[in-house]
Formats: sequence, structure tokens, C-alpha cells
Amino acid sequence: MAVFYVTTPIYYPNAPPHLGHAYTTVYADILARYHRLRGDETFFLTGTDEHGLKLQRAAEKRGIHPKEFVDEMVEKYKWYWSLLDISYDRFIRTTDEDHEEVVEWALRELWKKGLVYKAKYAGWYCVDCEKFYSEGEYEVVEGKPYCPIHKKPLEWLEEETYYFKLSEFQEDVERILSSGDRVYPKQYAGEVLGKIRDEGLRDVSIARPRERVWWGIPLPWDPDYTTYVWFDALLNYLTGAGLLRDPQRFQRLWPAAHHVIGKDILWFHTVIWFSMLLALGLEPPRKVLVHAFLINRGLKMGKSAGNVVWIEDLIERYQDSDGLRFILARIFNLHKDIEVSTELFDSIYNADLADNYGNLVRRAGTLVRRKLSGTVEGRLDPKIDEAIREAVKGYEEAMEAYEVSRAVEAVMGLLRRANAYINETRPWELADPRDPLYSVLEAVRNATILLHPVIPKATSRVAEALGFTLSYEALGVPQESYTVRDAPILFRKVKRGGPSP
Ligand code: MSP
Repeated sequence: MAVFYVTTPIYYPNAPPHLGHAYTTVYADILARYHRLRGDETFFLTGTDEHGLKLQRAAEKRGIHPKEFVDEMVEKYKWYWSLLDISYDRFIRTTDEDHEEVVEWALRELWKKGLVYKAKYAGWYCVDCEKFYSEGEYEVVEGKPYCPIHKKPLEWLEEETYYFKLSEFQEDVERILSSGDRVYPKQYAGEVLGKIRDEGLRDVSIARPRERVWWGIPLPWDPDYTTYVWFDALLNYLTGAGLLRDPQRFQRLWPAAHHVIGKDILWFHTVIWFSMLLALGLEPPRKVLVHAFLINRGLKMGKSAGNVVWIEDLIERYQDSDGLRFILARIFNLHKDIEVSTELFDSIYNADLADNYGNLVRRAGTLVRRKLSGTVEGRLDPKIDEAIREAVKGYEEAMEAYEVSRAVEAVMGLLRRANAYINETRPWELADPRDPLYSVLEAVRNATILLHPVIPKATSRVAEALGFTLSYEALGVPQESYTVRDAPILFRKVKRGGPSP
């Protein structure tokens, strides 16, 4: 049985998730649902990255303990993900006991292998990124170093710390990035390689003095230090796969690991993560899937840019989670940034969901009920048969290449073809409309199965109303007859005005 293990980044729960986080999470969910539909053993991991200075400060601001703070926020994340029908198999928290065990294990391994040493560190730090910036990486505003992402002044830090010998892995990481296909799209591997060639790999600090950052996992050999939040966080992917507590599951899942990430955290998920894994004697993940940003008014959407779009506002505008899931899938882009706009979102929703899909279901269902009392058997028109095969093939190729928006486009093509076919064959005027209506239902059935990972609710409703099952094996295998119980209106068009991104 094929195995598919997919992860999202674990999000910082210092604030609730916004549309940018939903973008990553819905994409991962679609991949997971697609693989489940295909019958693969699928494991989908998401969660929260709860330690470190950012969270410590957020809790301090509220005057509560960080654990109390993150406990509250985690409930919000779970609420948002259930609003969006995110079908994760585990919601991992870096405060989970099995994760802390994995972090301690990993630290001990590196320590035993002599890959960690103590030395002084001095540098400019961005708390929002939880990252040091070296010269050339940061921006300078009025003579002061600024974070290039958050546009905030960096903080100067000087302290004794523990380093991980990243520099020892330079050749291995370069080899993996230049020879394999572990990063998709490939351009991102090229970017990382360019940066390595320019700057080389310097050892990284993996600890913080406890007196400054006490909210974290203590180093097993020196409790005056806590583990650097990124070192802690990346290991969640091993915990989630069952590294220490279920080694058999881990053996199955790990070779099938797919990490979905935004391009902002590419360095961590390639250079640092691959080196950590090599140091631990483990394989790099099968694939790092990197996507570009959602931008709003020209800037990456984010809390610090103040241009956040809220998930619940869009769910309200598009009446249910399916509308928003579909829009996100349709605009999803691994290669380039996408600017959000009400016009764009409305036009996708109205044209693809309300007009193309929704209208076809409604028309076909109504005609079968009115003209044939709800039951139809017939011959599949070879033209529709061909359109179905083409769509299934295009969809599958795109999905296997992780190109969800292209997969959706293949289905839209089939639906447009079927709408045109109704207009051409005019079944409402025919004495015997069985063949064309049957052919249209076949198109609807196949399109519905293909869309199931994207819009799970609406497709389940259609399968129920038109009388078929959402089975991947049934694609391209004509169903003998249909008994149509209902012709639902799936998506009501939106008009200008109302809540907007
Ligand atoms: N906690 C780290 C990740 C650790 S993974 C071991 C982190 N968290 S985060 O809350 O800042 O979320 C980052 C991820 O959210 C990005 O990599 C991206 O996947 C997603 N996005 C956040 N804003 C986004 C956009 N504006 N556009 C697209 N994706 C966005 O980094």
C-alpha cells in the first residue's frame, strides 16, 4: 500500500491563524484527502510551535503563564481548522510529552557525537522570526538594522551559547539539494544552493540562556539553557511520525514525508533540517513542498504588516467552508505570490462554483427529475467519455505533481464541456432525453469525485442527491443508472459589497 505523510509548518500560537496560514493548511489538507481517496495509508500532521521568546513575551503581555496562554490559543487553532474542515490526523504541540522526549533524545545524540559545543555568540536578532540576521541579510533604516520581513528594529544579543556544527554538513546538504528532487519547485533548491555558495554554512546556536528565554525545553546536560525554538520545532515531524513511541509506524511514514511550507522558512527546512537529520542518522524528507505568499496591498499578509484577512469573514462571505477552500485551491501557487482581492475571490466563486459546477448539478438534477421522474439509464456519449478521461488524466498528473490549482482547472474544463453539452443537446426539448442526461450525470459524477478533496461537503451532498459513491476506482467506469433524489442549489452567488478581504 502506498504511504503518504504530509505536514504543515507548526504555527506560532501568539495570534490566531489568518488567511495566510489557511492557505498552507488547506493545501496540505487537499493533498491528504486526495491520498486518502486513492486508498493510500495517509497521515496528516499539523500543530503549534509553542516555545521560545515570542510566546514568552506574548504571555507576559497578557500577564499569564505561557502554558495557559498557548492552551487558550490552541483551542482557537482547532476551532479555525474545524471551520475549514481540516482533516488532520494529529494536532501536535511542542509542549506534548512525546515531543519533549524526542527533543531531549536528539540533543543527547548530537552531544554524544560531539556535534555540539559551547561558545560565545553576538548578533542581531529578530524575535518575530526567532532568528539571527547577519550583515547583508538585514535592512538598514536610519542607520539601524531592521528585519527585512517584519520591518522592525533587530535586537542586539550577546551571550554564551551552544552551537550545532552545521558547517560539517555543507557538502552533504549541497549534494542532496543539487542532485535529488527533494525540493519542489526546483527553483527553491537553486536559491538555497546559491546562498550556501555565497555564504557557506556557519554553525548555528541551538540554545538560549534560561535567564533570558526560560520558556522552552532545557538542555539535558545543562539546565541553565533552553533549546532554541527552531531546533525544537523541526523535530515535531519526527515526533508526529512516531519516532520513539511507535518505531514501526515511523519506519513506514518517514520515507513518505512531505513538508508543506511557505518560502519564508525554506532555509530552516532544507539546510538546518537536513543537517539535523543527517546528524541523527536519518534520511531527509521525501519532499519539501514550497509555496509563495499571499499578499495584500503589496505586502506579505501577516500580523506585523497589519494586512491580515480573517478566515471567518471569508467563510461568511462564501457561505461555507467549501467556498473558501475552493478559492484557496484555485489561486494556490507554489511559484509566485498572489495578491488577494474581493473581485478575484468573488469571480472565482461565482464563475467556477455557482455557475459552472453548482448550476450544472442543479440543471441536470432538475431535468432528470422532471423529464424522467428521477431515474436515468442511457448510453455515454463518446465526446463526454473523452472529456472525462482527459479531465481524470489531467487532474491526476497535476495532483501527483502537487499542482492543486492545475488539477482543479482540469475539472473545471470537464464541467464547462458538460454545460456546453446540455446547451447543445437541449434535453428539455427531446422526447427521449435519456442519453444526453445520462452523459451529463456521468460528467458530474466524475467531476464530483475529483473535487471531493477540495470541497468535501458539497461533493458529499451531490453524491447523496444524485445517487453515487465517492470512490476513486469508479472514475472512468460508467455507472449503470442514476436515481436522483434531489437537485440541490449548492452555491448562491455573491454580490458586490458585504465583508471583503
Ligand atoms: N513556527 C514556525 C514554523 C515551524 S515549522 C517546524 C513559523 N510559524 S508561523 O506561524 O510564522 O507560520 C509560518 C507559515 O505560515 C509560513 O511558512 C506559511 O506556510 C504560512 N503563512 C503565513 N503567512 C503567509 C502568507 N501571507 N502567505 C502564505 N503563507 C503564509 O514560521
